[in-house]
Amino acid sequence: MSTVVLDNVTKVYPGGYLAVDRLSLRADEGELLVLLGPSGCGKSTLLRMIAGLEEITSGDLWLSGQLANDFAPRDRDVAMVFQNGALYPHRSVRGNLSFPMEIAKSDPNIVRERVVELSRALHIEETLDRRPGTLSGGQRQRVAMGRAIVRQPSLFLMDEPLSNLDAGMRTELRMEISSLVRAMGVTTIYVTHDQVEALTLADRIAIMNRGVLQDIGTPAQVYNDPATAFTAAFLNSQQLNLLAATVRTPQNQFIMLDFGPHQITMPWTDPRAYAVSQHTGSQIIVGIRPDGLTPVPEKTEGPSFFGRVRTLEYHGHEWLAYLEAGIPSVAVPEPPDPRRHMNGGASNGKTRSIVRRLLSGGGPREEEEEEHVSPPSGFGTHRRADLIVRLGSRPVWRAGEHGRVAIDISRLMLFTQNGARIDPPRR
Ligand SMILES: Nc1ncnc2c1ncn2[C@@H]1O[C@H](COP(=O)(O)OP(=O)(O)OP(=O)(O)O)[C@@H](O)[C@H]1O
Ligand SMILES: [Mg+2]
Repeated sequence: MSTVVLDNVTKVYPGGYLAVDRLSLRADEGELLVLLGPSGCGKSTLLRMIAGLEEITSGDLWLSGQLANDFAPRDRDVAMVFQNGALYPHRSVRGNLSFPMEIAKSDPNIVRERVVELSRALHIEETLDRRPGTLSGGQRQRVAMGRAIVRQPSLFLMDEPLSNLDAGMRTELRMEISSLVRAMGVTTIYVTHDQVEALTLADRIAIMNRGVLQDIGTPAQVYNDPATAFTAAFLNSQQLNLLAATVRTPQNQFIMLDFGPHQITMPWTDPRAYAVSQHTGSQIIVGIRPDGLTPVPEKTEGPSFFGRVRTLEYHGHEWLAYLEAGIPSVAVPEPPDPRRHMNGGASNGKTRSIVRRLLSGGGPREEEEEEHVSPPSGFGTHRRADLIVRLGSRPVWRAGEHGRVAIDISRLMLFTQNGARIDPPRR
């Protein structure tokens, strides 16, 4: 068992590409930490630096309390599984599983026992005498995983081990990985770009975008209380409504979020009221999940939006409605592209310092909000998009009708223009 601490770790590839940007995080003993983010955000690079397969440009890596930047891969007691778990084609499954222990000159009786035990846990005991070429993709990944853990490493690194499998096999293996690594108590860092996989597997999730850590917390924390607009949008099975609103505080009586054709009020008693009021006169981004909007009868009191139902979508377990409500929506704010960042010398340090402070529990400082240099991409290019509303298992509206949706104010997520949370997330 092992702890992993990354302290301000940066990776710049030859040629100047900044793949990981001053990233700090910690995986605790026995923890299953999932690294989540879109393709190219630096997940594999980070994992390979922990394994010792990629040099760390700057910053420190600590493995179980020891500074490990310069440790050779074999001295790290780490096992790694990749997307295409390559196996020895001319050895049987048994031979593949026993190989790492044979290399380590383990007692043959112990090796035999361990291989049988592991093949049972991985449900591949019937395949022990077959060659990898005769196995299904799922079986091959099980063998690759078995071969990685047979030596009982203190750290297990998995890089999208399920992404080549079909949906059914992924779900099945996901559950097995979860129970196996937890039963072994091995600290595991698991990379994926699949948010369902992350939410279902993780003890904690670290979300990355363009080499920058966006958020870290338990699945419930990052889903319900995301630190950035990027996290909120990425952890959503349907599209997140991201709307532009201007904050107003008429005669200081209450806070109004002005969406143009619609306004909603927030009382001063709301725990977020003070933080939001600091943005009076400015535009902010309001995130609402499709299930935070509930269709209600026309004359219902309370905060609501109103619009024409443009279209309905059937998703099997639920219906979604697209409502034309005339509200300006915004794209997800992103940090600048690392290539531009390295070449031009411009820094996204401001956004990063806000995110870092949010992650450590502090709020954003006002001057940072007012001073941001480059307009975040997408912001300012408002378009009147549809509101996405979850209807549940019955389509209560028809296309062309007008509908009203009640807004659950407590579920509004409030972000600055560069995507950092206005009210600090609770961590
Ligand atoms: N050896 C290299 N030299 C230069 N750039 C590289 C190298 N390896 C990776 N990169 C770049 O670094 C960025 C991060 O790559 P990385 O493989 O870590 O992403 P990832 O998050 O694992 O993506 P995916 O989900 O597609 O596997 C990418 O833009 C990639 O093109
Ligand atoms: Mg990768």
